[in-house]
Amino acid sequence: MKKKVFLTRTLHDFALKELRKKYQIEIHSGQIPIPQTKLRSKIKDIDGLICFPYDKINKEMIDEGKNLKVISTYSVGFDHIDTLYAKEKKIRIGYTPEVLTDATADLAFSLLLDIARRTTEGDRIIRDGRWREIYGAYDYVGVDLQGKTIGILGLGRIGSTLAKRAKAFDMKIIYHNRKHASKSKEKSLGAKYVSFEKLIAESDFLSIHVPHTKETDRLFDMKILKKMKKTSFLINTSRGKVVNEKDLATALKKKIISGAGLDVFENEPIKKNHPFVKLPNIILAPHIGSSTKETRMKMAEITVKNLNLGINGKKPIYSVGY
Ligand code: DGY
Repeated sequence: MKKKVFLTRTLHDFALKELRKKYQIEIHSGQIPIPQTKLRSKIKDIDGLICFPYDKINKEMIDEGKNLKVISTYSVGFDHIDTLYAKEKKIRIGYTPEVLTDATADLAFSLLLDIARRTTEGDRIIRDGRWREIYGAYDYVGVDLQGKTIGILGLGRIGSTLAKRAKAFDMKIIYHNRKHASKSKEKSLGAKYVSFEKLIAESDFLSIHVPHTKETDRLFDMKILKKMKKTSFLINTSRGKVVNEKDLATALKKKIISGAGLDVFENEPIKKNHPFVKLPNIILAPHIGSSTKETRMKMAEITVKNLNLGINGKKPIYSVGY
């Protein structure tokens, strides 16, 4: 009897072909994310699960998976999975770091460029037939990047890659991290360690690259936003729950900070009536950090490899827990 694998969303054809050779697979179609009740009923008798960041794999869900040996998530983030409980239950967890580092850093930098030069806003101006209204010397001006300070919160893989992009644009780079980076890394990136307080106070562009944990939950609230420069911009491609959205919307409306570029939100997908949607000084992306053709293929390849290893009780190539 073939082992059973459930996918909460479909993957590339090559990945499905590979999975079908070895397993009896079932793919959820329809409403995304899969309703929790449906996932709970499916997880009951499967050996392996392929999931995505929108799927909540909590204790109760894990308890339903009596035969479950592996959870392979198609993402670098795994805050949607109760990894400690999965480990207790001897369930392997695979994830997909490294392959999406460049794509995500590129997206962070493109949000930064967009909010600085107001490209998306310009697109809206043209589509609304308002081009003629912006000929004045002070109309529709952006800001230069050269000489500006980028503050990177979290100098891990993605944060470091973003620093390389910023260096090429002659920006001054400061960072805050749990640990200081090595001297040689700081030197090659041209990045200087500063306290969190200094990062907040001195950044012209502040880009968030930390996971969502108890410590980072809604870290960017009004208290912090008020300590940022009035002229600064906030970029977030990590996890939406690191920012208090209500406070950010107020801060943008009252010009407490100048603007924001976001790829992630507290609850995704956001609705059309979300307060962000009405604000002109924010660029919104629908969680597309890893979304390039090449990167997504590599992620699918690793997701399948992680599943293959974990389902046989082996450690996935990229493994959380054990
Ligand atoms: C991830 O992989 O965790 C990203 O957020 C998905 O784009």
